[in-house]
Amino acid sequence: MAPSKSTVELAKLNRLMITPLIVRRVADLRACIADFRRDGGTIGLVPTMGALHDGHLTLVRRAKAENSHTVATIFVNPAQFGPNEDLLAYPRDEEGDIAKLCETGCDILFAPDVSDMYPAGFATSVTVDRITTQLDGATRPGHFSGVATIVAKLLMQSLPDRAYFGEKDFQQLQVIRCLARDLDMPVSIVSVPTIREADGLAMSSRNRYLSPSEREKAGLLPVVLHETAAYLARGVEAKPILSTASARLLQGGFTRVDYVALCDETTLELIDRGRNGSRLFIAAYLGRTRLIDNWPVC
Ligand code: PAJ
Repeated sequence: MAPSKSTVELAKLNRLMITPLIVRRVADLRACIADFRRDGGTIGLVPTMGALHDGHLTLVRRAKAENSHTVATIFVNPAQFGPNEDLLAYPRDEEGDIAKLCETGCDILFAPDVSDMYPAGFATSVTVDRITTQLDGATRPGHFSGVATIVAKLLMQSLPDRAYFGEKDFQQLQVIRCLARDLDMPVSIVSVPTIREADGLAMSSRNRYLSPSEREKAGLLPVVLHETAAYLARGVEAKPILSTASARLLQGGFTRVDYVALCDETTLELIDRGRNGSRLFIAAYLGRTRLIDNWPVC
């Protein structure tokens, strides 16, 4: 489909006006990016599913600092949600998101429809093996294939110089690094440390689901995470310590623990003692809300 001229013209005008320019179609995204590149610019891409918080905006600010132009994407990707997960309930607030992107000075918001990302006849999926066998790969079958497929598409659609991802979703970050490397994509994957609330809870769009009493209990997760990581850093046997951490979460009001796991942070294989390059991962529920977090050990 030919790029609509009006969008390109708008993009030029837009530089003097309010950002971000909102783009819905891939052809228009490519036309805007080609225009930025004609001026010798570099592109930083920040993929998101919206309901933006300061964690997302930190990625956008970093992209802005390191590139001449920043593209944020908002797409609640059906392919990465399981049949019993929260796709329909996932928080959506495009107006609020646009206002936040406007404040950070993001140049383009790419917010396509599902039918444009997955048109009739769409039949391809990207699967990353090995590092997806543990953690969320085990508890959310198909999730990382959905993530890898959409991120591969977004990278191909925008061909950025750099793409920004949070350490909060550490396994996802490693999956994306692996796919970009294995598919020889000419992009730098940049990781950004987790941004936290005052009590240490990792910021997440899903925190909006928490009731006031659940929100209070949620503060236990980073406490258990840090204390357990510090204990494991002594190199002692992990199994009993991981069980104690899980029991503390359940005693503190968490309703289910998917995993408390010690892994090598590169291969994401389970390991039985803390050592350099190991990382502690937790996934646990408060009611219907699933929270994840991770912390380096040693
Ligand atoms: P989403 O959960 O919206 O997160 C978008 C990006 O923001 C991810 O790279 C995530 O790791 C990062 N992020 C979220 N919370 C953060 C925090 N507290 N601190 C730092 N970074 C944080 O992750 C996804 O969307 C999707 O799976 C996506 C990659 C967009 C593919 O659909």
